[in-house]
Amino acid sequence: MPKTPQALEAQHLLQTYARYPLLLERGKGCWLFDERGKKYLDLLGGIGVSMLGHGHPRIVKAVREQSARALHVSNLYYHPYQGPLAARLAKLSGLDRVFICNSGTEAWEAALKLARLYGAKTSPEKYRFVSLENSFHGRTMGAVATTGQTKYRQPYEPSMPGVDFVPFNDVAALRAAVNDNTCGICLEVIQGEGGINEVQADFLTAARQLADRHGALLILDEIQCGLGRTGRWFGYQNHGVMPDIVTTAKPLAAGFPLGAMMASEKAAQAMTPGMHGTTFGGGPLGCRLALEFLDVMEKDRLLAHIKKVGGRFHRHLEKLKKKYPVIKEVRGRGLMLAAELSVNGRPYVDAGMKEGLLFNSTHDTVLRFLPPYIISEAQVDLAAETLDRIFASVV
Ligand SMILES: Cc1ncc(COP(=O)(O)O)c(C=O)c1O
Repeated sequence: MPKTPQALEAQHLLQTYARYPLLLERGKGCWLFDERGKKYLDLLGGIGVSMLGHGHPRIVKAVREQSARALHVSNLYYHPYQGPLAARLAKLSGLDRVFICNSGTEAWEAALKLARLYGAKTSPEKYRFVSLENSFHGRTMGAVATTGQTKYRQPYEPSMPGVDFVPFNDVAALRAAVNDNTCGICLEVIQGEGGINEVQADFLTAARQLADRHGALLILDEIQCGLGRTGRWFGYQNHGVMPDIVTTAKPLAAGFPLGAMMASEKAAQAMTPGMHGTTFGGGPLGCRLALEFLDVMEKDRLLAHIKKVGGRFHRHLEKLKKKYPVIKEVRGRGLMLAAELSVNGRPYVDAGMKEGLLFNSTHDTVLRFLPPYIISEAQVDLAAETLDRIFASVV
């Protein structure tokens, strides 16, 4: 008897994941199917990735066509899609220059490197970052060093020096931490892994002012909250504050790994050829898929749709909160929503899997919903009915 994929993983895979007991084989739209054919409404989208759902015809067609033309072209040469994608991302973000890579953490790493180069132009002492407690910026060493959660950072210490953490939304602490040696102020406009917490507008404005006063860069990590999730292209556009650097990834190529860092001309000038790069990042398949993703977002008016269905989902969650005291708070914007419980969320996630509903819990007690942008009102209603059953049954 051949061993199951699960048994082979248990024996041979580096044990980095505590997986849910589910083997997902395929998907269609907002539905995923396990190996027995049971279907699940996907309210997590592979943690904010599969935002056009699964098997979107334009993505399928582009993968087919591009794989027959060229999957990879080195960054030693031009190909038809990287320039147009950079232009689109620059326009959408309001920034000037773009670096394209393979993942969120790589985009964040590029941002940190750019900020260090920018600071070094002024003074060798200008290398410090100010980041937020409870933040999450990825798994590479620079990302871990700027992540404000000890469980991700401490096991890898000593980490990159020069990072100070301040409490979330604490303007006075931010003021005390930023000085002329700061090269970058780092934050997620809505903290994702930290439990769906949105920065207040006055905090973001203070960060902008402090960055200007001390010649630092305002670096926003929009890997989870950006690219449409809040109903605008980027979360900072809800607050009218312009950053110097923004990172994005997750839904960018509709399921194919791709990340990007956008920077203002002022910041970007610090980077010169040879200072940074990637073998795979910005290849023709990923860039072409990202252009398809952005086209579909615009053609199908998905930003307006996200606001509408997100609002509906939010209202459903508020109703559930009134009915079930275990829900302490409902948070989020657009299709980045959360229900914070007074207890551990895992039994609810398990009950969801039984009921055919996929979501996860982050920060132990926060049920997190990042559904595909194409989710329909009927599917949102179905999700709410199922959640109602789950809250009624888990004791
Ligand atoms: C805000 C934020 N930054 C960075 C990352 C890291 O992205 P990736 O897992 O693509 O490396 C994540 C991933 O969840 C994230 O949510």
